[in-house]
Amino acid sequence: MSKVLVTGGCGYIGSHTIVSLLERGHRVLSADDLSRSDGSALEGIKKIAGTGVVNYRADLKDRTATERIFAENPDIEAVIHFAAYKAVAESVAQPLLYFDNNNGSLSSVLWAMKKHGVKNLVFSSSCTVYGKAEKLPVTEQTPLAEPECPYARTKLMGEQMISDFAASYPGRFVSLRYFNPAGAHRSALIGEAPMGRPDNLVPAVTMFAAGKLPELVVHGADYETRDGSCIRDYIHVMDIAEAHAAALDYMAGKMKDHGHHFFNLGSGSGTTVLELLKAFEAANGVKLNYRIGPRRPGDLPAMYADNRKARELLGWEIKRGLEEMMGSAWRWEQRRSAKKD
Ligand SMILES: NC(=O)c1ccc[n+]([C@@H]2O[C@H](COP(=O)([O-])OP(=O)(O)OC[C@H]3O[C@@H](n4cnc5c(N)ncnc54)[C@H](O)[C@@H]3O)[C@@H](O)[C@H]2O)c1
Repeated sequence: MSKVLVTGGCGYIGSHTIVSLLERGHRVLSADDLSRSDGSALEGIKKIAGTGVVNYRADLKDRTATERIFAENPDIEAVIHFAAYKAVAESVAQPLLYFDNNNGSLSSVLWAMKKHGVKNLVFSSSCTVYGKAEKLPVTEQTPLAEPECPYARTKLMGEQMISDFAASYPGRFVSLRYFNPAGAHRSALIGEAPMGRPDNLVPAVTMFAAGKLPELVVHGADYETRDGSCIRDYIHVMDIAEAHAAALDYMAGKMKDHGHHFFNLGSGSGTTVLELLKAFEAANGVKLNYRIGPRRPGDLPAMYADNRKARELLGWEIKRGLEEMMGSAWRWEQRRSAKKD
């Protein structure tokens, strides 16, 4: 099994993916500057997998620091590049920070891959590349749109950088377009730990339920959807993690040609915000006293994926549903709240 460099390995999706890779026998190395995580996921990974993972505390915008990781590990065969900032509002306030960090770190990684002859890369992309898609569900053929915010632009630019590089370098590149990752590993030893105010709905729900946020607001209940609230495509983070392991297998086997391939990673069905809140209450026996607020500028009424391409080509499937997402997210929140007390 190959040695895989996971950038952003101390973050939410990176840490779950490391667990999945270790379970499949891969050797794993993490590179994370801990700018958006605290490193505690490394302990969780060790407890779950029974094996520790070395983390290079390196800022991947720094080409020399990135280069050193590859020089010290000449047996790296594949990179999974998660390291990025992901807060939409912050990206609107500080676009240069986002271009610098998200596109700068990708550029360093591509330089180092080229120098050291590493031929396989999986890139964390996002459904934001589709912008306001007119037809749902979105497939990989849905036209890419003018980004709605600088964060989304960094993801679109990231895909484009990889396509240009792939045209000049004989590697295998896969961009996975995540929809709405949620939930935690069933052990509740790792999970989503936003620094500051959460941008995503599920950590906002769990933090509100734990008394860490003063209110929970549903942004608009007057959309043309079945209950008026926005529709999103929630997918269990371990299903996302397993898709990365499946992508590596695909690149080593069925993906015969060099080049850049794209896959949607969603559950394939939409859930409204109000349905999600009800699912949380039902799974955990916790009442959420949320309030309905006005629409948030820029929110799309509905977004969900056609995930057939990932299922067919990667041989991957969704194994976990909304109940498991809500149950594991809450167990994780309770565990980390208890730890901090
Ligand atoms: N979580 C989501 O809802 C979601 C949806 C779509 C796409 N994505 C993408 O998936 C990836 C992982 O997201 P996540 O939710 O795990 O985020 P996260 O913030 O939990 O993890 C990202 C990790 O990358 C690290 N990092 C950031 N910049 C770095 C740099 N320059 N050098 C080294 N390390 C750096 C951070 O310290 C953090 O640990 C990101 O690229 C994100 O844009 C996430």
